[in-house]
Amino acid sequence: MSDGYTVAVVGAGLVGDRLVAELRRRDFPLKELRILARSARSAVLAGETFEVGVAEPEAFEGVDIAFFAGTEGEKGAAVQLADEAISRGAVVIDNGSDFRLDPKVPLVVPEVNVASLEGHEGLIANANCSTTQMVVTLAPLAREFGLKKVVVSTYQAVSGAGRSGVEALENGREDAFPRPIVGNAIPQIGGFGDDGYTTEETKMREETRKILSLPDLPLFATAVRIPVHTGHAESVYVETEREAELPEVLEALGAAPGVEVSDDFPTPLEVSGEEGTYVGRVRVEGNVVQYWCVADNLLKGAATNAVQIAESLVGVRAQA
Ligand SMILES: NC(=O)c1ccc[n+]([C@@H]2O[C@H](COP(=O)([O-])OP(=O)(O)OC[C@H]3O[C@@H](n4cnc5c(N)ncnc54)[C@H](OP(=O)(O)O)[C@@H]3O)[C@@H](O)[C@H]2O)c1
Repeated sequence: MSDGYTVAVVGAGLVGDRLVAELRRRDFPLKELRILARSARSAVLAGETFEVGVAEPEAFEGVDIAFFAGTEGEKGAAVQLADEAISRGAVVIDNGSDFRLDPKVPLVVPEVNVASLEGHEGLIANANCSTTQMVVTLAPLAREFGLKKVVVSTYQAVSGAGRSGVEALENGREDAFPRPIVGNAIPQIGGFGDDGYTTEETKMREETRKILSLPDLPLFATAVRIPVHTGHAESVYVETEREAELPEVLEALGAAPGVEVSDDFPTPLEVSGEEGTYVGRVRVEGNVVQYWCVADNLLKGAATNAVQIAESLVGVRAQA
């Protein structure tokens, strides 16, 4: 489309803000950019002032691509409005978890499974932030060595919980997390299921299986919130099908799109504001590969990945 696309961003929170920034930074061909939220007002996103409109069915008239970054669940933006947007001709790219495991909905990390976009029915899901950075690093290991088992522990930033999470760190807001976050580490992200895993841990297992097309992959996650503003870190332990040597693991990871391997180690503070997934402390022994990986949860974990999906759909700069 030579004169660009009409794009709506639903949600003017942390992810909405980064979506605007990424659309601008990556020079997405825009004809019009609409910001929609629960209430109309003037708001500054990524340094630009927008007249925010109310997210209601009519607001999607003429929209080509709608990025959803509102809250989840029955009263959330995607459940309430995704069908309305699609019926008006938009393709919806949803950052929330409501539809990720729906077999009709592609769950896409472009570096890994962009082909799953083919034949989509108007709704495309972005993966959970902690899943996305892990799968871009697991995919090359799966291809080169095969995956037998994955054990992961996460160290997740407060911005993963949206504005309320940041307020808990900065202003002591008390209702964002199950315990005080300042000076603490909380091994509960989401609610607990009957199996003892939290929803975040279950998302990591089920979404990884779907994205990698490995429905039976044994994956054991422990997700922990720490008092860091932005940037999720993960300690990943992988058992591979065939034995590996350190140089070939480094080569496989280094050649993977979207992955940058460091001789040292990346930290959340260093990767905050960067688009990639950063790996360090790679260790290999027989069929065990261990590493540390870090990414900006609001960028690769949300906005960058969503904009990459849109780029793939319209055929510009996919997967850069
Ligand atoms: N934060 C992350 O690292 C991250 C990563 C991956 C995915 N996600 C997902 O992305 C979504 C947004 O997260 P966030 O961190 O940006 O949250 P946030 O900072 O709390 O912002 C949420 C925004 O959504 C809007 N909203 C809520 N319900 C809505 C509805 N029914 N209709 C329209 N707008 C609605 C709110 O509108 P008002 O301003 O009008 O109240 C607010 O602007 C969530 O689904 C989250 O799970 C977040």
